[in-house]
Amino acid sequence: MENFPVVDMEKLNGEERNAIMEKIKDACENWGFFELVNHSIPVEMLDTVERMTKEHYSKCMEQKFREMVASKGLESAQSEMNDVDWESTFFLRHRPVSNISEIPDLDDEYRKVMKEFAGEIEKLAEQLLDLLCENLGLEKGYLKKVFHGTHGPTLGTKVSNYPPCPKPDLIKGLRAHTDAGGIILLFQDDEVSGLQLLKDGQWVDVPPLKHSIVINLGDQLEVITNGKYKSVVHRVIAQTDGNRMSIASFYNPGSDAVIYPAPALVEKDKEKCPAYPKFVFEDYMKLYVGLKFQEKEPRFEAMKAMESSVNMDPIATA
Ligand SMILES: [Fe+2]
Repeated sequence: MENFPVVDMEKLNGEERNAIMEKIKDACENWGFFELVNHSIPVEMLDTVERMTKEHYSKCMEQKFREMVASKGLESAQSEMNDVDWESTFFLRHRPVSNISEIPDLDDEYRKVMKEFAGEIEKLAEQLLDLLCENLGLEKGYLKKVFHGTHGPTLGTKVSNYPPCPKPDLIKGLRAHTDAGGIILLFQDDEVSGLQLLKDGQWVDVPPLKHSIVINLGDQLEVITNGKYKSVVHRVIAQTDGNRMSIASFYNPGSDAVIYPAPALVEKDKEKCPAYPKFVFEDYMKLYVGLKFQEKEPRFEAMKAMESSVNMDPIATA
């Protein structure tokens, strides 16, 4: 098995730029995942985010998690549980409108740090989208424009902890799925592993690496690239020892953005007509909510079936 792709972003400014772009291209085409080091987010900020997230978990989340486990009798599970994840989470929305001030139990300093962190994540996401455009032969800004919709992209952060689990073979930290949205930027624990992706029918570990950001591509990028890039199935295996921190930020299209294969990529792929549907992102998300842990192909099929019955003006690409 080849090594999990690690991309040194500092080298994008030097003479190795072509090799790094090629590495990103190969990762997008064959892995759907890669890991960034020497990216633009200051390591001091990452250290603060990690410290505060771990403090917040033990102060405000751990007790609730224990109560959930007890109420569902998870500790004494005897067979595989398919309707629950061994995770403790809360969700912050940054764009189009922030909800950080409404989330209970966060102290002011933590809110402030997460706001700054979101700003850095947004910059990095947009930089990455342009690198993808370059590799795909799309004009600079194309993906950002498609994601824009009327009110700009949606940006949110799912803050998760995966506490030690006595039965990781019976209860997954997070069941296998592909991500629905655009591009996902994950700041994960540098000691407690658990994230795995499915490659060529085998589960591959995404290795913890201090101060790195793991990138993966969501279903929308698969549609826009007409399948040139794929969203890849992944899961989290809870560990019997150690609490895994996972801070995943989702840079997604705006709710009314119209998503469809980029015409330039469909034309290039002459033998392949658009293999993917055209739809409004919000409609895809409504479908995804109930089908997250199922295969993505039936979701694309369902959107295709809706396509013929809906009149879609290209409102969201201006
Ligand atoms: Fe995911």
